[in-house]
Amino acid sequence: MALTRRRFVEALGVAGASFLGSPVRAEQVGGSPAAPGSVQPALDLIKLDQNENPHSPGSTVSKAVMEALTQGNRYPKNAGDLVTAIAKLHGVAGENILLGSGSGELLKASVPAFVDSRRALVAGLPTFETCTNTARSLGLPVREVAVDASLRLDLPAMEDAAGGAGLVFFCNPNNPTGTTWPTKEIEAMIDRLAQRSPETVVMVDEAYAHFVESKDYWSLAPRAARDRRLIVTRTFSKVFGLAGLRIGYAVGHPDTIAALKLTTTSGLLPVTSVAAALAAIGDESLIRDQVQSNRAARTAITKSFQNLGFKVFPSDTNFILVDVQRKPEDFRAACRERGVMVGRPFPGLPSHARISIGTLDEMQRAATVFKTVLAKTA
Ligand SMILES: Cc1ncc(COP(=O)(O)O)c(C=O)c1O
Repeated sequence: MALTRRRFVEALGVAGASFLGSPVRAEQVGGSPAAPGSVQPALDLIKLDQNENPHSPGSTVSKAVMEALTQGNRYPKNAGDLVTAIAKLHGVAGENILLGSGSGELLKASVPAFVDSRRALVAGLPTFETCTNTARSLGLPVREVAVDASLRLDLPAMEDAAGGAGLVFFCNPNNPTGTTWPTKEIEAMIDRLAQRSPETVVMVDEAYAHFVESKDYWSLAPRAARDRRLIVTRTFSKVFGLAGLRIGYAVGHPDTIAALKLTTTSGLLPVTSVAAALAAIGDESLIRDQVQSNRAARTAITKSFQNLGFKVFPSDTNFILVDVQRKPEDFRAACRERGVMVGRPFPGLPSHARISIGTLDEMQRAATVFKTVLAKTA
């Protein structure tokens, strides 16, 4: 895989230069030829709707998955090697890690674990909705706090709302707005909350952490390992490109992890998913190349919207939020008709479209579609 990714980055210079020029073939920009037999979306459909990694897993991961498949007749064990590798990455112990079927499973589990009829969930609006939706379907109280004028999570207002809460879900960077808070500001909030509301647990979702380039951002995982009131979640779905294999993890104090475990599959995941994550986690060139390719494609599509006069919000992620000056559902339907899938509408964002970052080639083709759609009056 490293070879494929590297070739991709080498091709970036050429592809980047021709972003709005002549079409570039997917293979030229590392459209990573899929492993034999792998199922890819129809060639002409550009999927920019779910913040997925546009590159299919490379040969290192595929080989590991095929080997693991030979153990498919056995129940999974405790995925010890992967847990050890994750723990080492964050400088914590294995007892601080809980694997989940995607980090989504762990977000979902956090609601019955820490929220009840007297202790509400506090979450941003809009934010990644798993916790909010789970609390609503369980009939549990939710305090939603609107994002601020720059579309950042309103940290001071969320802190105000958090007195007596069971759980604060803090998505950093936030999906769907792409905005990030410096880590030390979140730590200060956690410290203040500890005085005022010592029972409240803060869950920081770091799904997009790899894409953040600010020096003010670092992972809260080491602190989560020793602080009973903090949990960090991470996923293999984004930079590692394993969304279809459903694997993520939480980092927390052993007591908090035990509470979370009660309503999960206890970290017993398919052997293939565990093998894929283990093969990917140590591949630093994969991470570097993915971050670089995402940045190049994101910069190019941002410029193309700006050239057309549309506002693009700063993003630390593999998606952008654009004010398309029309109903997002209309923009979405018009793009879909022309073979480009973009994100669904989000509460509180009446004229905004969330667009995931694909390959440079995909973004080049999508830019032509966006231009056509936006040329029509809203
Ligand atoms: C902020 C955030 N958290 C969690 C998830 C869920 O990821 P996973 O695939 O690990 O369930 C997503 C998926 O898009 C996300 O955007």
